[in-house]
Amino acid sequence: MSRKPIMAANWKMNKTHIEAIHFVEEFRNRVEQKGLNRSDVVICPPFTSLRSVQTVVDSEDLDVAVGGQNMYHEDAGAYTGEVSGPMLTKLGVKYVILGHSERRDYFQESDETVNIKVKAAFRNGLTPICCVGETLREREEGFTNSKVEWQVVHSLANLTDEQIARTVVAYEPIWAIGTGKTATAQDAQDTICVIRTVIRDHHPDVADQVRIQYGGSVNPGNVDELMAQPDIDGALVGGASLDPVQFARIVMFE
Ligand code: PGA
Repeated sequence: MSRKPIMAANWKMNKTHIEAIHFVEEFRNRVEQKGLNRSDVVICPPFTSLRSVQTVVDSEDLDVAVGGQNMYHEDAGAYTGEVSGPMLTKLGVKYVILGHSERRDYFQESDETVNIKVKAAFRNGLTPICCVGETLREREEGFTNSKVEWQVVHSLANLTDEQIARTVVAYEPIWAIGTGKTATAQDAQDTICVIRTVIRDHHPDVADQVRIQYGGSVNPGNVDELMAQPDIDGALVGGASLDPVQFARIVMFE
């Protein structure tokens, strides 16, 4: 089963909309079309830059999709400060990162919260990029597999086969995020296999279609080895995605 790789930039809370426009223009100059053809490439800027990024992508006819970094599970209402699925869809957004470890940690998002957001994303025609991963302590104590299995089962509960097939899972070991420490390609491959196996237990007919990314200090120096692993279907890139030259190189992995 061949799965199209998906390379996503997670800018987190970085870049004004002006800086975002400059990024896309520079990225366009650096990336080769064959890199864009081979993978689905997604840029996930802060909400304030979604419109600007989408406008430049459209006007340059660039093969890049735009994603949100979060959304609320209700479609509208008295939820000061929140952004809904229909608002994202109307801006041309195609993907939404859900359950990132920073959301789980700093904003108390549980697997149950992530699950209702995943359902809201599908209700609005958005593809969720659902993040899971263990802490350093969990890894050292031998709980990596049980932690990610639990997160996958509960974050993706009660979805149809068709929805599961479209879901993107991002395996991001928390100790590797923003630290410069990457899981070895083999460790990432092994845990991603565990994730696929648990998906297969619940959705045997479509588990092979689910794209599973690795995230955590992905950069131009390690992307080739990571992408050479048979079960790593792409990368969710934080720090290195802020630089258009580095992100272009990541997209053009060998
Ligand atoms: P990083 O972030 O590449 O800076 O480690 C990845 C992420 O948090 O998605």
